[in-house]
Amino acid sequence: MIQLKNISKSFSSKKNEEVIALKDVSLEVKKGEIFGVIGYSGAGKSTLVRCVNLLEKPTSGEVFVNGENLSAMSSAKLRETRQKIGMIFQGFNLLKTATVFDNIAIPLKLTGVPKADISKRVTKYLDIVGLSEKHHVYPSQLSGGQKQRVAIARALSHEPEVLLSDEATSALDPETTHSILDLLLKINKEFGITILLITHEMHVIQKICDRVAVMENGEVVEQGAVIDLYSNPQHGTTKKFVNSLFPNDIPNEILEDLQKQGPIIDLTFIGTSTDKPALSMVSKKFNVHTNILSGNIIQLKDKPFGKLTAHIQGDKSETDKALAYLQNEGVQVNEVSKK
Ligand SMILES: Nc1ncnc2c1ncn2[C@@H]1O[C@H](COP(=O)(O)OP(=O)(O)OP(=O)(O)O)[C@@H](O)[C@H]1O
Ligand SMILES: [Mg+2]
Repeated sequence: MIQLKNISKSFSSKKNEEVIALKDVSLEVKKGEIFGVIGYSGAGKSTLVRCVNLLEKPTSGEVFVNGENLSAMSSAKLRETRQKIGMIFQGFNLLKTATVFDNIAIPLKLTGVPKADISKRVTKYLDIVGLSEKHHVYPSQLSGGQKQRVAIARALSHEPEVLLSDEATSALDPETTHSILDLLLKINKEFGITILLITHEMHVIQKICDRVAVMENGEVVEQGAVIDLYSNPQHGTTKKFVNSLFPNDIPNEILEDLQKQGPIIDLTFIGTSTDKPALSMVSKKFNVHTNILSGNIIQLKDKPFGKLTAHIQGDKSETDKALAYLQNEGVQVNEVSKK
């Protein structure tokens, strides 16, 4: 649905120095999926998402949306194509002096939607975002979550095929964030709208994304299915993001001390293996003691995912059997080494 091919983008700063915001970025977002891009501040995420609708013109590379090459379009054709690409932002971008109704109606009018249809569409999409009662209030009378709902209704009212979201929940409290993410899931499921979302928060990725790309210094350093990146992160930055969900900073001295009595292991549980009592089985079956040092289970979009750090105490022959047993049970096992 969205294809970015070898996109690079540089800006010239005030001092005329070149700032490279994107370096040879390629990614593909499939029709109907929710694709997340995560990275720290300055990684190039906003620049990337703005390249998708050519709000930012790439210095080189090509952008395809629904098979059409946006980089090669006339400006009239580009305007028309942009109608199919909705966008929401952290700052909502509502008109302060217009009512909720007009915030949605005015852009529709500007794009030539017939007057009779405008009112129908505004009503329909305000209903979908759960704000039917707020037609005639002004943005200043709404909470942040409600403002974002208006912005989502405004984007949907153009009946887009793609929705771009740049940190749409970053200004919201955790509960409101969840309700907005639920709304994005609903939009994706019910209308089949493909969503490309940018965030710096892992919980946004795990709640609604199917696939994810990790960005750093203008480059995509790793991408893949959310479950794969969570269970087997390769790049240092991806590891940092994943470890932030499963902190296990065992001091080296304690680690060394414990390792004298048996290995310390990270256990990764995916899907159904999260509800197996694997560790207690191990201490029953083999001559070992197990001790959980830290652990957490999170819910990914469609399966639970958990990580435990545990100490397996016992003779090497027994601990080896225990580790082999765990692996056989579908649990990913990695020995923890000194940092
Ligand atoms: N219009 C611009 N002119 C000059 N430099 C820019 C411009 N826009 C972005 N940059 C630079 O490009 C780099 C990437 O910026 P971008 O806004 O894409 O990052 P980001 O990942 O969205 O960060 P954040 O999480 O803080 O929003 C930064 O170094 C930024 O200073
Ligand atoms: Mg940004």
